[in-house]
Amino acid sequence: MSRSLAVLVLAAGKGTRTKLSAPKVLLPLCGRTLLDSVLHAVQRLSPDRTLVVVSHDKEKVSESLSRAPGGKSRELVDQGRAQGTGHAVSVAMDQLQDFQGDVVVVYGDCPLITTPTLAALREARGDAPAAVLTAYAPDPSGLGRILRDEQGELVGIREQRDCSPEEAEVDEVNAGLYCFDPARLRPALHALTNDNSQGEYYLTDVIGHFTSEGASVPTVEVEDPDEILGVNSLIELALVRELMQERILLGHMEAGVRIEDPSTTYIDHDVEIGAETRILPCTVLRSGVRIGRGCEVGPFTHLRSGTVLEDAAEVGNFVEAKKARVGRHTKAKHLTYLGDVTIGENANIGAGTVIANYDGVHKHETVIGDGAFVGSGTVLVAPSRMGKGSKTGAGAIVTRGTEIGEGETFVGVPAKILKSKQGDSESGEEGRDAR
Ligand code: UD1
Ligand code: CA
Repeated sequence: MSRSLAVLVLAAGKGTRTKLSAPKVLLPLCGRTLLDSVLHAVQRLSPDRTLVVVSHDKEKVSESLSRAPGGKSRELVDQGRAQGTGHAVSVAMDQLQDFQGDVVVVYGDCPLITTPTLAALREARGDAPAAVLTAYAPDPSGLGRILRDEQGELVGIREQRDCSPEEAEVDEVNAGLYCFDPARLRPALHALTNDNSQGEYYLTDVIGHFTSEGASVPTVEVEDPDEILGVNSLIELALVRELMQERILLGHMEAGVRIEDPSTTYIDHDVEIGAETRILPCTVLRSGVRIGRGCEVGPFTHLRSGTVLEDAAEVGNFVEAKKARVGRHTKAKHLTYLGDVTIGENANIGAGTVIANYDGVHKHETVIGDGAFVGSGTVLVAPSRMGKGSKTGAGAIVTRGTEIGEGETFVGVPAKILKSKQGDSESGEEGRDAR
């Protein structure tokens, strides 16, 4: 499409229904904020301008946006006191005085929206003043109703609280996404009034304005009504999270990742997994994790940001890793913490190994060479190093700053028999079952 594109993301709502102090659009969803999820869908349309409308939470939203990829190209617009969706759009349009092309409006709390749906809306507008996304919602309560004439032409949108009983029966609803011709939008915004039950300026009223002038306004029905689910409460957040999670897991499975039990597998956005890798139940993979081909992860495994598993590495059975690089064919298969560590190829990390990376103030790095064998219950206090092919015995405490040379073996501290004193209660324990 050759027309220029500006996208307005409305994110000035207070989010009162979450009962949280943090801005609603910054709630997390599979490793991104709600707002970032929307912006990812928007970004793929390559807009010329992206304006995010915020109000009282401006600083927090701006800080979060600046950390997101491509954040710099986004412009924040301060709505001041939020007086409705029509007011939000007119404040943003003040920044787009001479803009010509398409103006797409989306909500910052609708994270499941997809790029093809936004593109379809643009396509549908043609030369009309606007195009409106609609849906047949299983539960239309609270949503604006789509009003049509006998010919089926769109007449207008009515908020549920302003609907007559017959209008409230309509099950076709306003998704809240639109594509506008800015030249026609500007005068329509000027004509808005706040003469409704909420005393707000409703963006939806501009549609009635266009049709009353005799224009025809096309609609696009969203294929999957889940796409327009908004997040207003933490209950809705949990529901939407599940749907987003499903999308992410399907994407990996389509790419040849074997996920044994999707219902107990949690994978954020921005996780790379090679084909032929098996992800076993109760596994959590956070954003920024990279896993090669033919690996095995899980069951009960938590891989945190910065962790890289090279091809055919295996971690599982209560293993947590953070900023750990695990080399090819290396195994850490039981009860282990790997933090800030680089492990070479073909190493074996025994059951119960702990990398003590934190001294209470700073994190330190540990290096374990190719083919190393770390005995069960080893604690490696960082910073420390194990050379190629080196070994530790079971229960070894490798103190801070230790360097175990290539091929060396490091053993220590065997337990001894505790001689029991006369009349000690220990003798009374004899013969009891172990429980
Ligand atoms: C809106 C639509 C409704 C539609 C529904 C779909 C209007 C009047 N109604 O209702 O027809 O069915 O969405 O979800 O548009 N916002 C601002 N500034 C404001 C007010 C809102 O930025 O002054 C933002 C909010 O942060 C939110 C979005 O706009 O992201 C929608 O606002 P909200 O008040 O939740 O509209 P709904 O009542 O859900
Ligand atoms: Ca809403």
